[in-house]
Amino acid sequence: MISNDLAHTRIVVTGAAGFVGSHLCERLVRAGACVLGLDDLSTGRHSNLASLDDHPSFEFRHCDVTVPHPVRGTVDAIMHLASPAAPGDYLAMPLATLRAGSLGTLNMAEVARDKAAILLLASTSEVYGDPLEHPQSESYLGNVNPIGPRSVYDEAKRFSEAVTAQFARMGVRTAIARIFNTYGPRMSDVDSRVVPTFIRQACAGQALTVAGDGSQTRSLCYVDDTVDGLTRLLTAGFADPVNIGGTHEATVLELAEMIRALCGSSSPIEFVDLPQDDPLRRRPDTTRAVRVLGWEPQVGLAEGLARTLAWERGDAAVTAVAR
Ligand SMILES: NC(=O)c1ccc[n+]([C@@H]2O[C@H](COP(=O)([O-])OP(=O)(O)OC[C@H]3O[C@@H](n4cnc5c(N)ncnc54)[C@H](O)[C@@H]3O)[C@@H](O)[C@H]2O)c1
Repeated sequence: MISNDLAHTRIVVTGAAGFVGSHLCERLVRAGACVLGLDDLSTGRHSNLASLDDHPSFEFRHCDVTVPHPVRGTVDAIMHLASPAAPGDYLAMPLATLRAGSLGTLNMAEVARDKAAILLLASTSEVYGDPLEHPQSESYLGNVNPIGPRSVYDEAKRFSEAVTAQFARMGVRTAIARIFNTYGPRMSDVDSRVVPTFIRQACAGQALTVAGDGSQTRSLCYVDDTVDGLTRLLTAGFADPVNIGGTHEATVLELAEMIRALCGSSSPIEFVDLPQDDPLRRRPDTTRAVRVLGWEPQVGLAEGLARTLAWERGDAAVTAVAR
């Protein structure tokens, strides 16, 4: 286990230029760690790391983690986030997504083994598929359609958990975070997930496109809380999966109405087809995260959405205060 004090540790973050990865790198550097960020910039942006440009404790390397990549020097931990994550991205890049979860995780697990480093995998609530158990606890084995279009992501993540668990049995220190829907500043301007989509549509005066009848639920977690959960898990010495997610469950229609009101928009709501295998209910049982990590989300939905909207509107000052 690496100590709670991350000062003077060296941590590799894959997917560093992505939405969650960039916030995580900032958090680790603030905690005193030296961070090597790896990213192929397929869905991430180098500008997400602007605050770390020229920081002496941060190094960025443009590389594809599905190709074995030598990492020189000591490494205390690898936090493996590299993978397309938004449905629009993984459906557009199905083979790259399968490779990131499989080859990418195998490569990173081998680096962790060779460096005697801890491997933390950023897994997902999508391993539960369209869940038949509600809320979802870590013991639930999931309901995933292995041949549906979403399986390129869901099954890749299930495979990446299998890799991580196998390396744990071989003596590598590991951690698995099952992250539920996270939102916040820096989701890309083409991100297809509900929060950025509704914000973009409401701000542009376009109809908010709600899938199905909007009664499907999501439990959103603000990115700062997710990153806090990941850093706590890194130092917890706990190998079994841990759900990291918000516990306030809202329907997608409620989210659309909330975001529309927050934006002061009078956009109409337009109901569109529900994508295949879209999960109908989604809420984590976070009992384990509370017990093992002492972690609970701190940022409420209204506050988190307001911070996200402020960032989307380019109100950097508000975002800076919020951080
Ligand atoms: N944001 C969420 O709601 C959420 C929920 C569950 C799990 N996760 C997981 O967290 C991680 C980060 O998600 P995100 O929302 O920040 O997505 P993101 O798309 O913003 O970030 C992913 C990053 O990985 C990089 N990447 C992809 N393939 C790569 C490869 N082969 N080599 C190197 N870099 C590669 C991308 O360029 C991008 O910067 C993902 O593993 C995702 O599955 C996120």
